[in-house]
Amino acid sequence: MKLFLDTASIEEIRAIKRWGVLGGVTTNPTLVGRERQDPEHVWKRILDEVDGDVSLETTAVEAEAMVEEGRALAAMGRNAVVKVPMTPAGLEAGRRLTDEGIRINVTLVFSPAQALLAAEIGAYVVSPFLGRIDDVAGDGMHALRQIVEIYRAQGYPTKVLAASLRHPMHVVEAARAGADIATMPYEVFTKLVSHPLTDLGLERFLADWQQLRRELEGEARSS
Ligand code: E4P
Repeated sequence: MKLFLDTASIEEIRAIKRWGVLGGVTTNPTLVGRERQDPEHVWKRILDEVDGDVSLETTAVEAEAMVEEGRALAAMGRNAVVKVPMTPAGLEAGRRLTDEGIRINVTLVFSPAQALLAAEIGAYVVSPFLGRIDDVAGDGMHALRQIVEIYRAQGYPTKVLAASLRHPMHVVEAARAGADIATMPYEVFTKLVSHPLTDLGLERFLADWQQLRRELEGEARSS
């Protein structure tokens, strides 16, 4: 399973890239808006920084305008993937963009039925929002498992991107369910790496090492 960062912050992207685990980036209008800069500049910088896929979201509501916007976003970089929403207009625009060879990510997906539609239009990626399903007392992980099961049973090539992940166990369970990609905020990435026993263990190793050095220095002085 590839690990993506859900952000438009170039600092966060660079930090995770340094770990050597950054598979790609997903953005959305809210995340780009937080940067308080020209969106084109934000997108371009991310596309240049990241080797893997970068999802850029359309904001038009009508299909025709969405297709125009999608073409422009796709032309911004070889690693650009165009996000369209799971709406009738999004399906129409998504199908047309796919027919033109543009890779699309169908976003705001909350049910296996919607994921089935995304696969049928030839989406490159589908994004079920697990955390937001949980927020309304649903079971996001159950929906993800059903989507993976349907795609495998039907042989759809569409990749399953587990989105709206809120904590490390979301990521672990998404991997167990067979998701192709998991996208998460920077905070979740940092929680993935940390464990109190790692910190305690390292503290102990370093203390023992210092103790050894002190003893060896003492022996050298007294001889
Ligand atoms: C994915 O592409 C979305 O940007 C994202 O995962 C939404 O997550 P949120 O529900 O935490 O906003």
